[in-house]
Amino acid sequence: MTESGKVATVSLEGKTASLPVHSGTLGPDVLDIRKITAGLGVFTFDPGYGETASCTSKITFIDGDKGVLLHRGYPIAQLAEQATFTEVAYLLLNGELPTGTEHDGFVETLKSHTLLHEQIRNFFNGFRRDAHPMAILCGTVGALSAFYSDANDISNAASRNLSAMRLIAKLPTIAAWAYKYTQGEAFIYPRNDLTYAENFLSMMFAHPSEPYKINPILARAMDRILILHADHEQNASTSTVRMAGSTGANPFACVAAGIAALWGPAHGGANEAVLKMLAKIGSKENIPEFIAQVKDKNSGVRLMGFGHRVYKNFDPRAKIMQATCHEVLGELGIKDDPLLDLAVELEKIAIHDEYFVKRSLYPNVDFYSGIILKAMGIPTSMFTVLFALARTTGWISQWKEMIEEPGQRISRPRQLYTGSPERDFVPLAKRG
Ligand code: CMC
Repeated sequence: MTESGKVATVSLEGKTASLPVHSGTLGPDVLDIRKITAGLGVFTFDPGYGETASCTSKITFIDGDKGVLLHRGYPIAQLAEQATFTEVAYLLLNGELPTGTEHDGFVETLKSHTLLHEQIRNFFNGFRRDAHPMAILCGTVGALSAFYSDANDISNAASRNLSAMRLIAKLPTIAAWAYKYTQGEAFIYPRNDLTYAENFLSMMFAHPSEPYKINPILARAMDRILILHADHEQNASTSTVRMAGSTGANPFACVAAGIAALWGPAHGGANEAVLKMLAKIGSKENIPEFIAQVKDKNSGVRLMGFGHRVYKNFDPRAKIMQATCHEVLGELGIKDDPLLDLAVELEKIAIHDEYFVKRSLYPNVDFYSGIILKAMGIPTSMFTVLFALARTTGWISQWKEMIEEPGQRISRPRQLYTGSPERDFVPLAKRG
């Protein structure tokens, strides 16, 4: 952050505050309001934080108007097409792309942490078989804190790194086992001869009774899906991780909080909601009626997979996801997938419809990811789990950055109180 030299002078009822303006390397300047309460005696009001920069960060940059997404300066399309998920994870965590030797070391370290403590196996039995796998993921990741008390030593850089590696390494195992448990199938242990994405597919789909053959196209698609979900600036779940982390809570607890925040249909739950929506629409003839419902504000119906708080242009991840979707369906020999046909038609109609155009609502990353995942045999209830698995890398990178920031303070927003003024307590007997 550098001083831009610009100062905004804000006046209210004879009082004046001089507010410095800071410049980042990209993006709009930021007005520093930290002296506004002392100067003017007021707080600022920004529900949903749409206009508020809550931190400085060097990890991810988004230009929502231009549809740009950069991780540590690298465009998402270049990373998705040319890098692997483990390279991107290294980049997010460490700031630079790894050399070959650094990458080998990183992958080896991850592989040394893929197993879960055998006691953690027992946790799964405590859940109902029909539990949502996000519930299992959230509970089990939080419970990792019970196994690694060294994670509480957040002031120690080695401890922070170890927790980060444990989280990135163990998430695929927990996610796949959450699925296996709900299916009543045997847990498949991690295979360290496989890549990160291959190992996840193996733990999801292999059976102890027969060898599992990895399809390289599907493994590459899975790797790309992980890259596309790895980080996304200060979204709701990342801000939750940072907020929980600002209290000094251990990183397993903070990531469990992030998983909970991701679960909602307005955030990570959207890809699951897209498929449910497509199934409900049923066929192309029903699209106009569905669009009419979406436009009717009283219906409470939204076009899931459309719109974004930050992107007011095409989500750059959606373009790559769409291409990957066609690749995967081609590889699987799915020529006429009714859901894909419906999605393509829905997209075509929506991007030309005045309602969506006026509000700059374009397809987001989740519009196509659900169709790819479904084609790969991933059940709908696992979609958000996969998102969480990928986003853990972003969460833990953002958490580390926050803890390592000099002068880091607890997050404590203020409010505009609209409740009752002070009044005297009336004893129960006198309340009538
Ligand atoms: N369908 C219909 N109308 C919409 C939609 C939608 N998907 N999204 C926004 N609008 C309308 C909204 O009703 C409002 O209209 P008006 O100005 O007439 O009141 C206008 O567009 C602005 O909407 P908003 O609610 O102020 O926008 P937001 O920035 O608060 O919400 C969002 C962003 C992602 C929650 C929202 O677009 C949405 O609910 N989309 C569907 C869910 C979805 O696909 N979420 C995944 C986001 S990408 C993955 C991730 O990063 O988590």
